[in-house]
Amino acid sequence: MWTKRWLPLVMLGLIVPGVLNPVDAQQPVKEQKKTFEADKGPSTIDVSNYPQEMRENYRVFVMRCRTCHPLARPINSNYYGSEWKAYVQQMIRKPGSGINPRNGEKIIEFLIYDSKVRKKGKTASIREEKP
Ligand code: HEC
Repeated sequence: MWTKRWLPLVMLGLIVPGVLNPVDAQQPVKEQKKTFEADKGPSTIDVSNYPQEMRENYRVFVMRCRTCHPLARPINSNYYGSEWKAYVQQMIRKPGSGINPRNGEKIIEFLIYDSKVRKKGKTASIREEKP
């Protein structure tokens, strides 16, 4: 039976490439460190002319949205109106976000309002520079 004699070689052929080429198993996957231009912009919003409710929502936003990255990131990201909804929900879902749905709603309301009233000249250009 020739198959019996060749079997070990066939097996070897299956194993060897795996040994020689161990799919980078040892190397940790390089963390993709994205840089956010927005992080370099201002880190506060002047809400003194905003309605009372939006000023309160702003405080929730400040408290909740700076735990993982600079507050400048959302402040200088030029998302508009309801676009913010998806981003806030994405942040809420991140492990350890500490943002409950109620606060999430307040933050969304704030960011939608803010995106419509704030002049974002500088940040608009940041957005455009993105690939
Ligand atoms: C649990 C950690 C965490 C919290 C809390 C958090 N973020 Fe983020 N955020 C991230 C990470 C990580 C990224 C990098 C991009 C990604 O992984 O989605 C990011 C990216 C962003 C971006 C850039 C997205 C893009 O691709 O342009 C915006 C805007 C943003 N966050 C807004 C917020 C807002 C608003 C809040 C508060 C509701 C918030 N983040 C709270 C972790 C967090």
